[in-house]
Amino acid sequence: MYETLYEKIVDGLVNDGYIVLDNALDASLAKELLREAKSRNDFKKAGISTKGSRDENRRRDKICWLDEAGSKAQQEYLEFANGLREHINRALFMGIKRYEAHFAKYEAGDFYEKHLDAFKNSKNRVVTTVFYLNDSWSEADGGELVIYDKDDRKLRELLPLQNRLVVFLSEAFPHEVLPAKKERYSIAGWFRVDEVFV
Ligand code: OGA
Ligand code: MN
Repeated sequence: MYETLYEKIVDGLVNDGYIVLDNALDASLAKELLREAKSRNDFKKAGISTKGSRDENRRRDKICWLDEAGSKAQQEYLEFANGLREHINRALFMGIKRYEAHFAKYEAGDFYEKHLDAFKNSKNRVVTTVFYLNDSWSEADGGELVIYDKDDRKLRELLPLQNRLVVFLSEAFPHEVLPAKKERYSIAGWFRVDEVFV
């Protein structure tokens, strides 16, 4: 079903290391995921490491993890990701074992400082996905995802528009979320080469 999309993503990863796709999935799936994210009340403060309260200064979003046993919309999203996993493994021999993803909610003023999703040679998260859910968003609302290259040059500044999908090599692109001026929803996900949580 998503074969053409998978091919585009693989081409993007090979040629540039990242790709931005608008109207990526079913429009109705993006809408349903937004509805679900808005209605959930189990978002928890996200942590970066074990550094405790210092995280607040680096990251202010709240998250809740997607689950294969969750809603139909979650299952559909995870099926898309699993198909992508198989496609990437077949095309690029990356040996991805699994995918994990969470809803993220940024309230007005929330941000995520510049970071990498994987440390070099740590062999865990290898490909990042971010899928945006917001149905009305303009430049005045802030909350841009800013992607940098290895030399810290700004590559892209992206609004979190509904059904926009961003995929990039986790070790290669520092990125940040600028302060959002209103509630901002996304699904951040990672393809991992390890079997279980460490
Ligand atoms: C992350 C992240 C970006 C976004 O959760 O690691 O970088 O735009 N999210 O939500
Ligand atoms: Mn990130």
